[in-house]
Amino acid sequence: MLNRRNFLSTAAAVAAFAAFQPEAFARMEMLAADGSSRPKMPPRSLYDQNEEAYWAEIRKQFLIPDDEVYLNNGTVGSSPLPVLQAVFDGFYETEKMAQKNPEEYPIWGYEPYTEFRDPLAGFIGVNRDELALLRNATEANSYIANGLEMKAGDEVLMSDQEHPGGEQPWNLRAKRYGVVVKKFILPKPPKNAGEILNVINDAITPRTLIIFTSHISTATGLVMPVKEISALARSKGILTAIDGAHVPGMMRLNIHELGCDMYTASPHKWLQAPKGSGFLFMREDVMDRVWNTIVTHGWDDPKLKAERFQHIGSSNVPLLWGLRASIQFANEIGMDRIEKRHRKMADHLHAEMVKRGAESWTSPDPTLRCAIATVNVPPVKRMDLENWLWSNHKIRIRGGEPSKLRLSTPYFLLPRDVNRFLEKFDEYKKTVA
Ligand SMILES: Cc1ncc(COP(=O)(O)O)c(C=O)c1O
Repeated sequence: MLNRRNFLSTAAAVAAFAAFQPEAFARMEMLAADGSSRPKMPPRSLYDQNEEAYWAEIRKQFLIPDDEVYLNNGTVGSSPLPVLQAVFDGFYETEKMAQKNPEEYPIWGYEPYTEFRDPLAGFIGVNRDELALLRNATEANSYIANGLEMKAGDEVLMSDQEHPGGEQPWNLRAKRYGVVVKKFILPKPPKNAGEILNVINDAITPRTLIIFTSHISTATGLVMPVKEISALARSKGILTAIDGAHVPGMMRLNIHELGCDMYTASPHKWLQAPKGSGFLFMREDVMDRVWNTIVTHGWDDPKLKAERFQHIGSSNVPLLWGLRASIQFANEIGMDRIEKRHRKMADHLHAEMVKRGAESWTSPDPTLRCAIATVNVPPVKRMDLENWLWSNHKIRIRGGEPSKLRLSTPYFLLPRDVNRFLEKFDEYKKTVA
């Protein structure tokens, strides 16, 4: 365990501290203490007595200053104190080079790392042997697009709302090897799952080899009906690869229940894990159809199962300590509570924006949305608003040109944060009306 004296004695740590604002500095310092001055997790019973008081206590676990409103968890989350503590502890322990076995070194890119894969496997509903720890969804998506056995002319069918980290790996494969990228167009917003399934069904051709789609769209926050899409694909002998970058930690996830063949994610978003922790899931019966992309020993050993995909050369083990801690943190709060909070905050914000005349790009069907509300607000220019909110009011949002706002509501937001955004939006809107 890292103690105050050890921590503060390193010049690097002191220099890093100096870069923080005083409030964040104070919270960081708590990491270095013996734990007594660090905010404690509230008892679970507080949630039943006074839900808002419970979330106000949870908010203290995050370094984001109290006067900042963070409505862009869709791009990246913020690791809470116990996750940061685990990363620092990880460095402190591993960098001693005092491992019991002289052949053991703190490098993850050559190892099974069962102690990290097991808790993640339990959290996302898969088996360890189907899971490779990677650095993010982009990397995992690239492994699939680059490695899947396909012939020129074979088609990958994807939505028109994919993130570049999902779509571009396939575009590369198409340009280099002649596979064909086809797209289905999602309604903005879809009224129900049936509408989406019809669009996909109509776009399938005899050459469709795989359907690639986000589970939660980066563009609109739409939650795709992945279980039904996977069943449709399977009934036609088509593979499914799902980009679930946003899903772990935003809503309950059980990949086996979804029935897809492959699944990728970036737990640094809604699970608030350290940046640089991602994963690739692959069903065992499709593994022999996917070649490795990054290669070191073990790439041609089928006995390793999914572990062979995580043999990527020396990597950052303490991040895995943080990933494991982020799972513990989410479980301590409870994914049921987290998901409920996510839905409540996003629904509230969405309804308030619609009241203000915004056009909704968020589905009216609650099963097709969760913690991201997307609205279109012309004539407001989203980048002007984004800059104005951040420079004048410490409110972070994100959107798309020209007037789309994508509002992400992590559970640690408080009602005062949402209200402040709405108040400032009203103020800004008056200046462009
Ligand atoms: C659906 C989706 N896929 C992939 C990514 C890329 O994530 P990362 O940069 O962690 O690989 C994002 C990021 O927003 C995303 O929303």
